[in-house]
Amino acid sequence: MRFITPVLMAVLATTSMAASVKYNGENRGKPVMPAQSNAKWATECAACHMAYPPGLLPAASWQKVMTGLGQHFGTDASLPAAEAKEITDYLVKYAAIRWTSSAAPLRITEGQWFKAKHYDKKEIAPAVWQRESVTSPGNCMACHSAADKGNFDEKSIKIPQ
Ligand code: HEC
Ligand code: HEC
Repeated sequence: MRFITPVLMAVLATTSMAASVKYNGENRGKPVMPAQSNAKWATECAACHMAYPPGLLPAASWQKVMTGLGQHFGTDASLPAAEAKEITDYLVKYAAIRWTSSAAPLRITEGQWFKAKHYDKKEIAPAVWQRESVTSPGNCMACHSAADKGNFDEKSIKIPQ
């Protein structure tokens, strides 16, 4: 028992953790938001938009994003080298493992799965994307109220007016 108990507890802890982590659809192969957070990522990468969960992009995309912070979508989001490295390591470690194409886009919203879910099905009228309450497809929180927790369940989707 002395040996078994800690092992069992570890297994139980892992299981309950996995159950509380939200998955974003089927093709990423990992929870979008790992149980393990990183304080620097949570602060620095949430300064201008929500901190995008690591599992939304493959490792190669995160590498590109993180080496281009000086010219980050028209802004300067550069960080001291040590911080950038720590954040890169975090994002890469928990990046999407199953990616449906070999492309490594800079944007989540350029991913094949994103287009399939948001544009191809034509469930969201084109005009919705133009609304002031949405502004950009990268503004996940406009429609997914729990996006910053990595939760993209249908239940938490509400299209704003
Ligand atoms: C100084 C402000 C600023 C900071 C800090 C910042 N970003 Fe951004 N980020 C932007 C802007 C502006 C965009 C483009 C917004 C848009 O087009 O919707 C963007 C877009 C992105 C996108 C693409 C979203 C999409 O459209 O799919 C990713 C990924 C991203 N940022 C990651 C990061 C990461 C990782 C960090 C932390 C290292 C970070 N950002 C910090 C301003 C910032
Ligand atoms: C204009 C509103 C809107 C915005 C902005 C938006 N989404 Fe969505 N998203 C939706 C809707 C509606 C669906 C449901 C589509 C369907 O029926 O499959 C969806 C579906 C999803 C799904 C699939 C959920 C599932 O269980 O199949 C994921 C993952 C997702 N969105 C991620 C994102 C991410 C990441 C962002 C930001 C980069 C984002 N979305 C921005 C409206 C939006």
